[in-house]
Amino acid sequence: MIETSAPAKIILFGEHAVVHEQPAIAVPVSGLRASASAIPQAPGSGLRIVAADLNETIPFDIGAELVDNALLQTVRLFLQTTGLPAPDLTITLHSQIPMASGLGSGAAVAAALTRALNQACGSPLNDEQINALVYEIEKLHHGTPSGIDNTVIVYEQPVYFQRQHPIERIRIAAPLHLLVADTGRGALTKIAVGDVRSLYEREPARIGAVLDSIGALVREARAALESGNISALGPLMCRNHEYLQTLTVSSPELDTLVAAAVAAGALGAKLSGGGRGGNMISLVTPEIADAVESALFHAGAVRVFRSIIH
Ligand code: PMV
Repeated sequence: MIETSAPAKIILFGEHAVVHEQPAIAVPVSGLRASASAIPQAPGSGLRIVAADLNETIPFDIGAELVDNALLQTVRLFLQTTGLPAPDLTITLHSQIPMASGLGSGAAVAAALTRALNQACGSPLNDEQINALVYEIEKLHHGTPSGIDNTVIVYEQPVYFQRQHPIERIRIAAPLHLLVADTGRGALTKIAVGDVRSLYEREPARIGAVLDSIGALVREARAALESGNISALGPLMCRNHEYLQTLTVSSPELDTLVAAAVAAGALGAKLSGGGRGGNMISLVTPEIADAVESALFHAGAVRVFRSIIH
């Protein structure tokens, strides 16, 4: 049996601006994963994908019309890229990553599935090719994705990402203690990204200035991360959240959680990912984590998990 997996991700700084050529910083959340297990089947049995969490079994049919299903599209792209026939295989997928909540569940499932297929077929693709393939799948979820989600998830390393630039890995000099809190409200990244684009088209000067400010902030944050200057990061997160509010991608629920975390002593807090719902992150010290966690629940978080980023 082949077992593969891929992590969730958090965008620390720069979401949305990254779609418009600014840099952003994202880190993998290795404790929260999507996984795939592949079991070879008798010759001629074909390929089946079992989406265990959705209780769905999907047979793969190479001749079928192109269907709007990300799992089948992933298989199809893999076979097209490698030129291989569909293997006789049952691949079962599980994910611990909540969907539509800014944690990269779609990219992680696609990465785990691609890795399972790849290993079953003798590993014809390298990480760069797997990354390119998962990026294509991200387009189904996001429309015009920047590429940051697939990159951080496939390489499972903190990244400083800017479109049209080589991927830069960054070193986190001092561990970051984060609380990730879920508003319980799903939101489609595609819609938020589209709305930011329309806003930018309508008001290029005002929104362009906000995007530039986010870019400058991301560069400052990178320096703080690489020098272990944790205390500088909190205020940068709060400022980033304010810029995201200006871009209209926050929500009352996100704002309430951010305010509650800061009031309870978090060093900083912001929404993370597509926004309008989904998750927010707060930077804490180990001493303050319990107090911030209860404040988040009190303010309406449906789930809070702790993550230490190294
Ligand atoms: O997948 P999400 O919801 O974490 O959003 C990804 C980050 C965005 O910058 C909003 C979109 C993108 O493609 O970079």
